[in-house]
Amino acid sequence: MDLGVNLAPRHKVELRLRNPVMTASGTFSNGLEIARHFDVDELGGVVSKGTTLRPRRGNPTPRTVETPAGMINSIGFQNIGVSALISNVAPVWAQWQVPCIVNIMGDTVPEYGQLAARLDGIPGVAGLEVNISCPNVGVGGLEFGQDPRAAREVVSEVARHTSLPFLVKLTPSVSDIRPIAEAVALAGGHALTVSNTIPALAIDPKRRQPHLATVFGGLSGPAVKPITMRNVYLASSVVDIPVVASGGAMSGLDVVEFIMAGASAVQIGTASFVDPEAPWRCLRELRAWCEAEGVSSLDEIRGVARRLD
Ligand SMILES: Cc1cc2nc3c(=O)[nH]c(=O)nc-3n(C[C@H](O)[C@H](O)[C@H](O)COP(=O)(O)O)c2cc1C
Repeated sequence: MDLGVNLAPRHKVELRLRNPVMTASGTFSNGLEIARHFDVDELGGVVSKGTTLRPRRGNPTPRTVETPAGMINSIGFQNIGVSALISNVAPVWAQWQVPCIVNIMGDTVPEYGQLAARLDGIPGVAGLEVNISCPNVGVGGLEFGQDPRAAREVVSEVARHTSLPFLVKLTPSVSDIRPIAEAVALAGGHALTVSNTIPALAIDPKRRQPHLATVFGGLSGPAVKPITMRNVYLASSVVDIPVVASGGAMSGLDVVEFIMAGASAVQIGTASFVDPEAPWRCLRELRAWCEAEGVSSLDEIRGVARRLD
């Protein structure tokens, strides 16, 4: 059975995963702690915590709350910064077989370029995931990923500053994800990650206040799976670059469904908060499903459920 996938088929540098099960940014730290307990090299890919030019402390607590079939977080990009990632984390990754991908986030377009340039050629870094689901400080809060022109600018800037293959992580906070997906593919993104968390609110009736210190946060987990499924279906029907699903996968069967909607790989995020072994379990379940169904390559099922093409 060949579960392998190349997430950058259009690029001179490949991003080859031995299977389609990846970790989702911010739910796996940078992998160093979990690697003491499980074999990370069995996974298809590891994605880092969102990394910025300078270290960040993130938002005040409380910044996570459980909700029906999901959770809301407002971590606010707490991270060690790109310099510490390069000196302390990448050397460990360089010893691993699994491709490690750095999720990057800038406040401005030039910051994305600087991050891409810093990470280019660093041993242990196999690729980037460019998070455009965050506010464009220059235009007062609208997310880069909500505006095809801003999305294009970020993607071109990253492409100019690195030879690494890169995924672009879209926001679900748009009425139609297709124009953004097309803009990103045209500007040179090698793959899409669809998508990030969905803005949400939870109230604590005891305190008569919002649960989170920042009031709002991002919803993830099984609650968002049908929304992600639709966005994967739509995005993959308009671009010819790989689409990685991120949002609500809890099992190997969820992975199968995302692939049938058009995904090439699937990230496991919130599931790891319930079961730290979730990415490995999903992979085992995916293999068992393929075996039971006589599927020997994911090409046989990718996009089979789509009717729009
Ligand atoms: C606690 C937490 C932190 C996250 N941090 C980031 C981040 O730093 N960068 C990013 O692009 N996405 C971040 N995400 C979004 C996840 O990577 C993922 O796209 C989202 O949670 C949907 O997938 P899931 O339902 O499998 O969790 C975070 C999610 C959670 C729950």
